[in-house]
Amino acid sequence: MTEMFRDKIDISLTVNGEPVEARVPAGQHLVDFLRGELGLTGAMQAANTVSLTPRRRQDRGRKRMTEMFRDKIDISLTVNGEPVEARVPAGQHLVDFLRGELGLTGAHASCEHGVCGACTLKVDGKAVRGCLMLAAQADGADVWTVEGLSDLGAIKDLQDVFVERNALQCGFCTPGMLVAINELLEAGGTPSRDQIREHLSGNYCRCTGYEAIVDAVETVARVRAQKGPHDHSIR
Ligand code: FES
Ligand code: FES
Repeated sequence: MTEMFRDKIDISLTVNGEPVEARVPAGQHLVDFLRGELGLTGAMQAANTVSLTPRRRQDRGRKRMTEMFRDKIDISLTVNGEPVEARVPAGQHLVDFLRGELGLTGAHASCEHGVCGACTLKVDGKAVRGCLMLAAQADGADVWTVEGLSDLGAIKDLQDVFVERNALQCGFCTPGMLVAINELLEAGGTPSRDQIREHLSGNYCRCTGYEAIVDAVETVARVRAQKGPHDHSIR
């Protein structure tokens, strides 16, 4: 992202009580600035633990990116099986377009850094990070959100077992997990617990555990394998 948006911007802020003035690439994330420029390596890229007031965090996050790159681009894509045409700001991320313009709020924007998985979407058959993909890049794409997969019944068995096994967690992390797991299940076979964990390693829960989730995925994979080929795929 830093490489894509290299224009420099002067910023003035207070970090840990000290005034800081800097010239930063437009696409540089705050955590990278703090770690790389100020040597504050306590904030890890694995999670957005940088503390800002909600309003300031919003201002400095992806919304600011949208405001900075306002040139409009016409896009034409398919979302949850429906054709969509739109005119979007060049800097708008796909997850914001889906949430803000189409009202598909299942995918969340959390870390905005590609590490937490809350924004996971299915694009052209692959699980992708909606916070790292621009809406403009989705021109011509086939996009599915957790709402579409759910309405289609493609993940009904997974959703049912999530409830049965108490794997259902909060609304922030669960939608992304379901979309990521759907990708694994669509690949077929019966993944080992290690493979399930590996596949879900990009989907963070900040508060509970993964044991029940792995149980649920393992259960669904086994049931699907026993039933033989059947159409859980939407592609
Ligand atoms: S919001 Fe965390 S990976 Fe996209
Ligand atoms: S982040 Fe959703 S339950 Fe932990």
